[in-house]
This record gives sequence, C-alpha cells and structure tokens, in this order.
Amino acid sequence: MPKQRVNYVCQSCGSIYTKWAGRCDNCGEWNKIIEEIINSGVGAGPKSVLATGKPANLANLSGKAEDAVRIISGIKELDRVSGGGFVKGSTLLVGGDPGIGKSTLLLQAASALANRGRSIIYISGEEAIAQVQLRAKRLGLEKSAVKLASETNVETILATLENEKNIDLVIIDSIQTLWTERIESTPGTVTQVRTSAQALTRFAKKSGASVILVGHVTKDGQIAGPKLVEHMVDGVIYFEGDNSHSYRILRAVKNRYGATDEIGVFEMTQNGLNEVNNPSSLFLDQRDDGASGSAVFAGIEGTRPILVEIQALVAPSPLGTPRRTVVGWDSSRLAMIIAVLETHCGVKIGANDIYLNIAGGLKITEPAADMAVAAALISSLSGSPLQREAVFFGEISLSGAIRPVIHAPLRLKEAAKLGFNCAFSGKLHTQKQKISGIKLVEFDNLLSLVGAISGKNK
Ligand code: TYD
Ligand code: MG
Repeated sequence: MPKQRVNYVCQSCGSIYTKWAGRCDNCGEWNKIIEEIINSGVGAGPKSVLATGKPANLANLSGKAEDAVRIISGIKELDRVSGGGFVKGSTLLVGGDPGIGKSTLLLQAASALANRGRSIIYISGEEAIAQVQLRAKRLGLEKSAVKLASETNVETILATLENEKNIDLVIIDSIQTLWTERIESTPGTVTQVRTSAQALTRFAKKSGASVILVGHVTKDGQIAGPKLVEHMVDGVIYFEGDNSHSYRILRAVKNRYGATDEIGVFEMTQNGLNEVNNPSSLFLDQRDDGASGSAVFAGIEGTRPILVEIQALVAPSPLGTPRRTVVGWDSSRLAMIIAVLETHCGVKIGANDIYLNIAGGLKITEPAADMAVAAALISSLSGSPLQREAVFFGEISLSGAIRPVIHAPLRLKEAAKLGFNCAFSGKLHTQKQKISGIKLVEFDNLLSLVGAISGKNK
C-alpha cells in the first residue's frame, strides 16, 4: 500500500509546499495554496522508475525526418496562426478568457475539417452533448461528421480514443474540467491539469493524432491556468479580445513547428466567428476625424502589414506623480520615449498625465511603433492634429536617433492600398524600397520629427 502524500500546491504558479500558508512565497499571491493528495505516478520516487525502466533506442541526428504532416482547416486566419495547419502527433493549447469564443472557434474548425474528410472528435467537458448540438445548429454546422462526447474522466477519454481508428484531431474543451483517477485532488487543480495534459500529450505522440487542449485564463486563480501546461505542449495560441468589441485576435505564442508572430483576426457575429481578411480597414474604421493625439502606425504582425491608430492624451496633472496609463503597448517603452523627448528634444511633457491607447484592443510589441507614439504624444501636447493621410513607422533609440525598420515596402504598400499618401519613417535602406503614390518623409532623429510636426502646425 503506497503511502498517501499530501502536498500544498499554489494554484497560481504551481509551487509545492509541505505546509499550508496564506501567501505563496514564490509568486506572492494570497489564498492560492490548496491541499492536493497524491497517491502514485507523479509522486513516485526515482527508485521505482529505475526498477521498471527499459533502455530507449538512441538515434543519430541525420535520420530520414520528413516535414511535419499538417491538416488544414481552410479557415485561413486559423491555419496562418497554427503555422499552416495542425501538425499530426502534436498538442496545441488554445487559451483565452471565458466567453471569448474558444468553443465556437474550435467547433467551426472541427466542422470545417470534418467537411474535408478528416476524422474529428470533439470532447466537451463543460457542456452537455445537447448544448454543443444546439450551438452547432445555430452555427449551421449540424450536418458535419464531427464525433461528439461529453466527458471529463481522462481514463474514459483515452479508452474512447483508443477505440476509434485513424483519428486526425481531438479537441478537449477544456483541460480544466478533466480529472484522472490516479490523483485524488479535484478537477482544475494544478496536479490534475498537469497530469491530464501529460496523458493527452502522450496519446498524441503515440497515436499520431493532433490534440487541441482548450484552457481558460483565470484571474481569480480558483482553477489552474493554461500557463502551467505551456511547456508540455508543442504550440500555444491565445484567443484575445474584449467584450466591448466584436473582433477577436488569435495569436501564436509558442510553436515548435513554425513561426510565432502571426495573428489571425475574427469577428464575432450572430452566426459565429467570421474571418477578417483586411484587418487594417477594421482597425481604422472608427478613426476620429481631425482629432489631436491620433497617429496611424504602419505595423507588421508576422508576415502581414496592419495599420492601426495610436491615440495619446497628454493632460495637465494635478498629482505629484503624474499618471501613466497604457493600453495595448509596453509602458516602459512609453517611459523611454517620454525621456528621449525631454532630454534630446526639449519637449516638456513629463509632468503631465499621459494616456496611451492602441485603438481596437490590439496589442503591439514592435519597436517600430515608437515614432507613431512620439508623433501622437507631440500632437496631443500641442493640441494640433497630425496630417490625416500620413502613416508613421520607425524605432527610436535612447540617443534620440530614428532607426530604419524591416519590411518598409510592405508597410508602404498597405498604407497606399488604404488611401494614405504620406509616410513618416526612419531613413530607408535603399531607394528601391519606395512605393509610388506615397510621399516619403525620412528622419534621422526625433528632434527633426518634432520640428516637422510642430513647424507644420504653426
Ligand atoms: P464560447 O465559444 O462559448 O466561449 P468560450 O468557449 O471561450 O468560453 O463563446 C461564448 C460567447 O460567444 C457568448 O458570449 C456568445 C457569443 N456567441 C456569439 O456572439 N455568436 C455565436 O454564434 C456564438 C456561438 C456565440
Ligand atoms: Mg467554451
């Protein structure tokens, strides 16, 4: 009879303690430590592993490896983010806030794949079969040959899957509802989520089927979040967006079989998620006409150019420490640009409250957005709008120099396509990068950009 072990596990970061505590020493979160009972498996010591282990076959690096076999859904935005389709034998985690549309997206993907002759199994741990069927009917997908089960027990799920032959894709919705008999803690705890994810990853490798795990992002930490299984899976995709907007962004953050910087854009409608093929026009849709503090950034997400409006508000601050509020961008990057404006350009801006917002809920990580942010800040501070048909891109260095950025022609082409006729950028590498129809204004340093913006406005 194995000795029963009790661990105290932080549901936020997964740290294990031998005693309960109110606060986790590792991540600093309060009230996240929960008792978990472990009988075997995870808790088994190295001795038992040595006793049962068999030597593995070792191979050379120069094997006859073929390219990963992929299954393509035909939903272009999804295929792009997964790196060209789901890879057979791999596990993919799809994370996102509850209610963002994960189940809807995956049901649509399941149906699209089944319509292409793939064998798809959709296992819902959250909804009863009738609920999933009702959703399928609403989406007009009820005729697709997707096989459906409502189950949460990992052993039952694995037995069901073993019973089916030649499965192409299994969707598990969600990983937090699963529980295995090997562990006596409740579903959703760190140990249950980890062990269940491990079992399904093993199944994917062994059977050659693709496995998609859905994971809810949880803010209150009552159930373990998808971060815990990120290292176990081959790919991680997050589905983002907020409830005040109808569009949703699918973003790859880890991909063992492809690039991770692609995004996919969808719009949530009455009839499910629709692909958005031209995101720039969507993000510029509600631009304020002639408002100060608004600059259009010509950005690149993965391989695709996206134009997006950057809004800044600079307001006199009543506080000793002025407020900085940033949505969709890095706040330390904003602090850097403010410091460069103050130090190298003589712009007195630091004592004000500063709000920065990327319109439409998009998150931007590219340093190329620096110049658009600086332009929006100067425009708001001076109260005069920027040229309406201009886009901005360029990286600002600590010395106040503006550096050229990659993919300038792609950015310029997208701007021209959407009716812009002027671009403010760093110096281009070659003259060949210019595009007809767009007047290019190149800058060496931020000081000359400040001069150009405020000069024009005088
Ligand atoms: P859902 O896919 O259940 O989210 P998740 O699985 O990430 O928790 O999506 C739920 C939301 O989507 C819900 O608020 C209703 C909305 N929705 C639509 O607007 N249109 C639709 O066609 C469907 C199916 C859902
Ligand atoms: Mg769901």
